[in-house]
Amino acid sequence: MIVCPLCHARLTDSPRGLRCPACDIVYSLTAGVPQMVDESWLDEATSHEKAAQDKHFAGLPDKAVFKPAYHSCYRRSRIYQRLEHLIAQLQCDTADRPSVHVACCGTGYEVEVFLQAGWHVSASDLSVQALHGLSKRSATRGYQVPYLQADVLHLPFPADSFDVAVVVEGLHHTPDPVRGFAELVRIARHHVAVIEPYTTGPLNLLAWLGLAHRAEYSQRQPHRLTASSVSQMLSVAGVASGSTRLYLDLPPGLLADIVGDRPIPAALMGVSNRAAEWLLRIVGVGNKIALVAAVD
Ligand SMILES: C[S@@+](CC[C@H](N)C(=O)[O-])C[C@H]1O[C@@H](n2cnc3c(N)ncnc32)[C@H](O)[C@@H]1O
Ligand SMILES: [Zn+2]
Repeated sequence: MIVCPLCHARLTDSPRGLRCPACDIVYSLTAGVPQMVDESWLDEATSHEKAAQDKHFAGLPDKAVFKPAYHSCYRRSRIYQRLEHLIAQLQCDTADRPSVHVACCGTGYEVEVFLQAGWHVSASDLSVQALHGLSKRSATRGYQVPYLQADVLHLPFPADSFDVAVVVEGLHHTPDPVRGFAELVRIARHHVAVIEPYTTGPLNLLAWLGLAHRAEYSQRQPHRLTASSVSQMLSVAGVASGSTRLYLDLPPGLLADIVGDRPIPAALMGVSNRAAEWLLRIVGVGNKIALVAAVD
């Protein structure tokens, strides 16, 4: 069921779309896809992000729509392993085929991984152009998932709608990742999981070494997670400690992409990356974090 993203009231059908009687806002349906974002309540940062993402995804070459297909073999395997490790922690005993909502889905590679693992999947993103990418991708590969346009800070679902809510690399694009996490906790019955860029604060050695981006295509200052924002997220979820895992991801353009398709260099990189990752993890350093919180 879709509700008003602002007040969570039930929506009624109107000739122009779905109407919230309490807020008096009509959310349109474009080619059957609910557009659950209204410029009247969007904050300035999110509005800017939406425009920048639409521009980015509108110009995306076809091969990038099928992320991570265009990455080197080395990088692809890291992306999949990380997500598969996350999914392995999310199994719920309650359902044969649990449901997951993937917010900030982009063109939806994580949607596909969950589908292949046998989940019921739905998806949302702020950018309509990103959703066009998802639609192209799913049509080409022969599957269908329900999706809509939504701001992860105001998701248009009642509380406890899905077994699991997930975001991969999306909360750092919002003005308030902790609030985004709280919104995921609201709609999830069992687990919330995110994978996001992480920073270790002022002594961000990795950024200093050029191994962590300071800026993104859509933003000058993305909100990377920190130890403090992670503990706030866990307190929002009402759990003392979730499961966290730090990763060391080499930024694009480095060796990972240049020789990542050659078997021997790729294998050597894999081993050295894992060793560095393991050592850095001991001292709490990494540039990506996977966080899983149980919310029931
Ligand atoms: C770096 S992309 C990641 C996409 C996808 N999850 C992946 O890993 O390939 C960030 C995505 O977050 C979306 N996004 C940014 N701000 C958002 C918001 N406030 N609500 C929902 N999605 C948002 C962008 O449109 C974009 O698709
Ligand atoms: Zn409303």
